[in-house]
Amino acid sequence: MPTIAIVGAGPGLGLSIARVFGEQGYEVALIARRQSSLDEMVAELGTAGVAAAGYRADILDRATLVRAFKEIAANHDPVEVLEFSPAPRGLEPGMVLAGPLEVSVANVQPHIDFYVHGAITATGQVLPDMLERGTGTLLFTTGPCSVAPMPTMGNVGIACAALRNWVLNLHDALAGKGVYAAHVPLSLDANDADPDTIAPHYWQIHSRGEGPEHLLTPETLRTGRDASDL
Ligand SMILES: NC(=O)c1ccc[n+]([C@@H]2O[C@H](COP(=O)([O-])OP(=O)(O)OC[C@H]3O[C@@H](n4cnc5c(N)ncnc54)[C@H](OP(=O)(O)O)[C@@H]3O)[C@@H](O)[C@H]2O)c1
Repeated sequence: MPTIAIVGAGPGLGLSIARVFGEQGYEVALIARRQSSLDEMVAELGTAGVAAAGYRADILDRATLVRAFKEIAANHDPVEVLEFSPAPRGLEPGMVLAGPLEVSVANVQPHIDFYVHGAITATGQVLPDMLERGTGTLLFTTGPCSVAPMPTMGNVGIACAALRNWVLNLHDALAGKGVYAAHVPLSLDANDADPDTIAPHYWQIHSRGEGPEHLLTPETLRTGRDASDL
């Protein structure tokens, strides 16, 4: 049974993606910090007939992330899909928002650690095996500030744009090797951001395996086509 590992799995998008891939026959490995949240998601997926397990890790503590992937490798078939979509809960020390005039090394660094170093670390745990097998998908989710400057997210945007830049390069570097990498920026407001509507697009993106970036907007969710189709 193929495995999807979801890094930064919570009750919103992470759980919905888990359900969609689970219904397609995947076993789900959920990675997040809070055991209680992981337990709730595993139970909810179980009632839907999806085999899932939770692994505790803090993306900002990279050794715990590496350990989680070692546990996943020991407990599951190879990770066929890695999906990276952590969302800070606003309580993390130093993970503040800063506008362009307030940007400092101190308020950018935590976001670089979270988005860029977190994604690089997670990818490093699965990519060598994917390349050896010649199959796999790597999907990286961010918000709209990765693609277009947003003054309220002056510091976060630096990190998300850097993650996007790496993923677009990764996509090209993996061409012809059987491994597919794509960036999935979500540009949705609260009314449109229903995770159960968004998640099926991840299955489409994975199964089609085409294009370096899939911008999901209210329009693309409504039409079922993402911006790369337009
Ligand atoms: N503006 C938009 O268009 C829009 C709308 C919706 C979502 N999004 C994007 O979609 C993604 C998912 O959002 P969501 O809220 O629906 O996610 P979610 O899957 O409901 O939750 C994400 C989870 O990430 C985990 N997390 C946070 N910090 C972590 C850390 N340091 N280490 C490990 N796990 C961590 C949290 O769980 P723990 O607290 O248990 O660690 C959280 O529950 C995000 O990238 C978000 O920006 C964008």
